[in-house]
Amino acid sequence: MVNTLQTILDKSHGVGDSPATATVAAVRVWDESTQQYHGGQEWAHLPTFHEDFSVTTNGLGTPKGPLLAARAALDICHHYPPADQEPSKTKLATFLAGDAGHADHAAVDNLHARLLLGNGASELIDLVTRLAPPGKWRGGPSSIQYKEYERAAIALDRAVLPPPPAERDGDDAVAKARAAGPDPDTAVMAIVNPNNPTGDYMAIAVLKAYIEKHARDDSVVIVDESMQLWYGPTWRDDSLVRQTAWIADLYATRRIAVYIMHSWTKIWSCTGLRLGSMLCPTAEHARTFKRVQVPWSVNVPGLAFLEAAVSPEEQPFLDETWAKTSGWGAYLRERFERLRAHVGPSAATWTLHGEAFLSWVWIDFKDARVAEHVCGLARAAGTPVRPGANGYNRPTCARLAVRPKDVTDILFDALERGL
Ligand SMILES: Cc1ncc(COP(=O)(O)O)c(C=O)c1O
Repeated sequence: MVNTLQTILDKSHGVGDSPATATVAAVRVWDESTQQYHGGQEWAHLPTFHEDFSVTTNGLGTPKGPLLAARAALDICHHYPPADQEPSKTKLATFLAGDAGHADHAAVDNLHARLLLGNGASELIDLVTRLAPPGKWRGGPSSIQYKEYERAAIALDRAVLPPPPAERDGDDAVAKARAAGPDPDTAVMAIVNPNNPTGDYMAIAVLKAYIEKHARDDSVVIVDESMQLWYGPTWRDDSLVRQTAWIADLYATRRIAVYIMHSWTKIWSCTGLRLGSMLCPTAEHARTFKRVQVPWSVNVPGLAFLEAAVSPEEQPFLDETWAKTSGWGAYLRERFERLRAHVGPSAATWTLHGEAFLSWVWIDFKDARVAEHVCGLARAAGTPVRPGANGYNRPTCARLAVRPKDVTDILFDALERGL
């Protein structure tokens, strides 16, 4: 039984020396003077690799049907992709509307007219930040969120404000925020919901009230719902994709333009393919973006993958995702509690964050040296996790993906041996 912080730190000396080299190599992949650090690079530099816990992708892996469709599409890579991105775009609009093709046609047409596909959500994050009215940028309400929005803002010389306080930050903070109202200089607000990396989540009524309260008139609000699909079979009901009338009204009455961002590389575990979409507040906004966007930004395998992934035949993949992810998440939480018991009193302050339905957890070890040691042990075991120190500037934290039990055991057995 190891029960003091000093013992943990004593044990950390010399752990995973060669995997530490892998971290250096993975960090060097990013030119941090010009680029934002992301997880998902270490696996390629490790001598032993079992599973990547550093990304938020689906623990089921890539669905077979869409993968085969993408592979088959390579046979026509001597042709340009279709300029209208069809039929994938219509199929995605139908998927967003719901009911597997029996959806209300007016709803599908409305979504289709407002939809843009991109080379990953990252391309669209850049585009919307570029075209937003001049002014400051702010995230919110979580104190730390997916950094690409902020990176795009800084790259475009926008000043960055701290996030406004969330309801859960306590009565004083909320009262102050109410009294202050929206910041008059904030032209762009980016909300990630569910939030990566903390796993915070605002239900639809809370999200709408938050936007109404904190967005300035005549501004842009981007809501990233990439992780919303993990919510379960009723994900659309708690999503802005079903809030068409509210979005139209907010734009008509207050010129607040709400954009809904989706990275499709997480739920369908296809980060290497680059696939994202953005729903604009109106069809006119979508046309403006289309004028500026580079042509063919989703390639032929990407379009083929998307078409297959959103088809009714792939519904079982989503059903399996919902059936298995929360069970794997519960097992990870169980192993975390076992680890805390194994470490003893010095682990009493460790906290695990995130909604139970999500594909990752965010752990605060409350000590940067412990978090670094955990990341080293994970790397040495061939199960790299995402250090909070890199990119997020949260050196006491780490993000761990939710994965099947057998690989979760590899990671946690290694942590128990090393802590
Ligand atoms: C919340 C969120 N949004 C958007 C992205 C960008 O994803 P991509 O460019 O792979 O579609 C990511 C990637 O990690 C993410 O976590």
